[in-house]
Amino acid sequence: MKVESSPAEVRRTVRAARQRGLTVGCVPTMGALHQGHVSLLEAARKDCGFVVGTIFVNPTQFGPNEDFSKYPRTLESDLDMCRTAGADLIFTPPVSAMYGESAQTIVRVTELSTVLEGAHRPGHFDGVTTIVTKLFNVTEPDRAYFGQKDFQQQLIIRQMVTDLDQPVEIVTCPIIRESDGLAMSSRNRYLSLDERQRALQLFQALKLAERLAADPQLLPLDIATAMQEHLNSVGGIDVQYAVVADSMTLRPLAERSDSAVALIAAKVGQTRLIDNKILRFR
Ligand code: PAJ
Repeated sequence: MKVESSPAEVRRTVRAARQRGLTVGCVPTMGALHQGHVSLLEAARKDCGFVVGTIFVNPTQFGPNEDFSKYPRTLESDLDMCRTAGADLIFTPPVSAMYGESAQTIVRVTELSTVLEGAHRPGHFDGVTTIVTKLFNVTEPDRAYFGQKDFQQQLIIRQMVTDLDQPVEIVTCPIIRESDGLAMSSRNRYLSLDERQRALQLFQALKLAERLAADPQLLPLDIATAMQEHLNSVGGIDVQYAVVADSMTLRPLAERSDSAVALIAAKVGQTRLIDNKILRFR
């Protein structure tokens, strides 16, 4: 496995692989890798002849009061995990290689970026779409792999590649969970033991939503209310949203629909967590 930090060098390495006839798969990450990230690398490994992972804690997607400076940086163990997962190349640029001092261009997906996560984290998705475009420009992948864990993010990236004719196929991979159901996240390591227990209630609320969706009497709003009440009843969970939305537009659903997703964001202590589940209304 090669590890390279210069965009020009990475472009050369990937182009050489393509010239050997290999399909290129890209897995963008911010490091602090766990089995969720590994599952993306493994999916890319199955589909593609050449797998490039990127590890870059992207400053432009963090708000002024967010955790950019304390975001976990665990490069050595990340590289071990990438090697085990079968990656061919890891791109780990310094901030200066991705953002020149005179940079003035941003990529923005206008509507999808303003709701849910976008409403609570202004500017977040501009940072994501700008860096992902730059990572695509450097690695020139045929396919790129994203997790359903960040449901809104993968939708926004799909919208972006369609709108900008970016020649890359987006693949969305299932959420990987701990054995008790907590969605894996680099931020889980911030949780105290007590908070870790409470954090599990996000998953429990989504399971409740799934059970309630089977009741033909209930509307999406009833289910959203039940999730909120469940989370509020636990205590120590600051719910930012708990909604049932259309899985393409992310607008709140008024009627039962076969394109629905339940989405939750909540702070447990100082740690902000998100999770979601596709709902099937029968
Ligand atoms: P990061 O949070 O490191 O996540 C990298 C990828 O791993 C994302 O596509 C995310 O959805 C996926 N992922 C995280 N937890 C997962 C889980 N439990 N199961 C499955 N997939 C999971 O998302 C980002 O980084 C950044 O915004 C990035 C796209 C790299 C741009 O900076």
